[in-house]
Amino acid sequence: MPNLPNAHPDRGVPANRYEAAPAWRVVDDYFAEALVGEDDVLSYARASGERTTMPNAEVAANQGALLGLLTQISGARRVLEFGTLAGYSTIWFARAVGPEGSVVTLELEPTNAEVARENFMRAGLADRIELIEGAAAESTQRLIEAGAEPFDLVFIDADKPSNPLYLQAALELTRSGAVIIVDNVVRDGAVANAESADPRVIGVRSVVDAIAACDGLTATALQTVGIKGWDGLIVARRS
Ligand code: DHB
Ligand code: MG
Repeated sequence: MPNLPNAHPDRGVPANRYEAAPAWRVVDDYFAEALVGEDDVLSYARASGERTTMPNAEVAANQGALLGLLTQISGARRVLEFGTLAGYSTIWFARAVGPEGSVVTLELEPTNAEVARENFMRAGLADRIELIEGAAAESTQRLIEAGAEPFDLVFIDADKPSNPLYLQAALELTRSGAVIIVDNVVRDGAVANAESADPRVIGVRSVVDAIAACDGLTATALQTVGIKGWDGLIVARRS
């Protein structure tokens, strides 16, 4: 039984989404250690997040493992990722698709792309990952125009105001039965505030509306707590 500091619900509650309550942290550490086993490649990639434009934004180890499992459970061979950062989740996807699979990951910031490329080399996965530098909306437009082979799974985890745009691109670039996952959709509960003026919250609410209005998508959303604070993800399937 792990020691649970501040496990009482009135104590240790984080002040914002960049903080995790101590009890959440202990439980995440417990599961990550017991079930996930982040190896050297992944822990190096996580630490290298400090050198990106958004330190600490990569998914938690147990969330990365979930992304890998969803990839394998759905039998996905081609994955498209919006927002590479240090490439932490990219590595989970690239491992999950196996040697015959591939991941295309889109990153705006050259600094982040450089960090990620180093991580892909270290991971021995560079041959199955294509990192496209530039604005994701433009990169996906080029993929659409080039008639890219349809993707089986899409992870939307970039600038949140563009979520609706990225969903549209994902719908044009996927096959029937594809899985679409959207990260960071709870934002400390702010997502439930229809009056929020935060462009990131508005981006999340707009993509929720777009998914709800799309006949070809079946979706749910889950809240998560853990080392990343209070957040959540949408999982959708296109028919
Ligand atoms: C933010 C974005 C992310 O993708 C993430 O994992 C954490 C935070 C953000 O926009 O604040
Ligand atoms: Mg994210």
